[in-house]
Amino acid sequence: MDERIYLSPPYLTGAEEKHVKNAFAQNWIAPMGPDIKALEAEISNSVGVKHAVALCSGTAAIHLSLLYLGISPGDTVLCPSFTFIGSCNPVHYLGAEPVFVDSEQTGYGMCPKAAKRALSELDKRGRLPKAAVIVDLYGHPANMGALLPLFESYGIPVIEDAAEALGARYKGKMCGAFGAAAILSFNGNKIITSSGGGMLLTNDTAMAEKALYYATQARRNAPYYQHTEVGFNYRLSNISAAIARGQFETLAHRIAVRREHYNAYAAEFDGLPLDMMPVSPDTEPNYWLSCAVLDKNCGVSPQELIDCLEAHNIEARRYWKPMHLQPLHSGRDYYTAGDGDVCGRLFDSGVCLPSGSGMTPAQRDRIIEIIKKKITGI
Ligand SMILES: Cc1ncc(COP(=O)(O)O)c(C=O)c1O
Repeated sequence: MDERIYLSPPYLTGAEEKHVKNAFAQNWIAPMGPDIKALEAEISNSVGVKHAVALCSGTAAIHLSLLYLGISPGDTVLCPSFTFIGSCNPVHYLGAEPVFVDSEQTGYGMCPKAAKRALSELDKRGRLPKAAVIVDLYGHPANMGALLPLFESYGIPVIEDAAEALGARYKGKMCGAFGAAAILSFNGNKIITSSGGGMLLTNDTAMAEKALYYATQARRNAPYYQHTEVGFNYRLSNISAAIARGQFETLAHRIAVRREHYNAYAAEFDGLPLDMMPVSPDTEPNYWLSCAVLDKNCGVSPQELIDCLEAHNIEARRYWKPMHLQPLHSGRDYYTAGDGDVCGRLFDSGVCLPSGSGMTPAQRDRIIEIIKKKITGI
């Protein structure tokens, strides 16, 4: 059996080691320390926001952003349906309800036309959402130019879920710099990983201070531990931050490799009944995952293609199953632009292909050959 090729495994370049060794040498292995501070400074400077708060996950970062925005039981939060469930689980933690919105055909981000419809309908029903989560899916920036002014016109704060999009840009501005707050994930499969972790980014000093306070069990400043509110144990460990610092140093290389994967797949599949995920105008994705959609007349379903790759010891994955199709969310509001269920169709036809920063051209060629053979039958 050939060696296994994973979808997006962790990729270590060696740059991590010096930071980790240093942290060990200085006994900084607690959930506080110089690497946490350094990581926060390095990422906030690079993204172009004032504050960063390193946390144990991207989900925690969304939770704390929503908490700061005052989301509470009975509220609604607008979320894209087409995303990983971490984008909207925190809405439930706060006893609020997500309302789902369809995606655009390019970039797969929240569809502005569908969002406009949702807001106008919800406004009529007196149920305007108290916040919106916008996701940069698969490393492709959402349509910020249309979405941000729309939400602003209703006075609704936006959280940018850039969990998958560190290093991507919209009109030259880095993902992670949009909205009232943005979040990143350093989970094991992301473009940089700290083994597990996340970050809240914001220009709002009060929000950053409050997030840090909530992330450290809501300890009041007193000579003893004094508590007036419920808090959480959400801080990132210094060792994880040390790993993330080494990973972040090589972000440009990671993006270049993943872009090359996308371009090679696109060139090799040209003329076949499968299309790579279209890149939206004004965007520079980080190409976290190379995604492809199979034509209806392709004769091969996404699952058949995934099974075929699996038989060759290659991991591929279906597109995220939209939130409005999840049993957990059955019966919840879902708004499309009025001309069909775009993300439902994408789910039925999409496949995420291996995209790792450490995947070699030879490994990629192996994948391409298997896919071509499966689709053409020769
Ligand atoms: C779009 C999206 N949002 C949120 C998350 C949650 O991040 P984490 O796994 O760090 O909690 C992830 C990934 O895991 C994600 O892909």
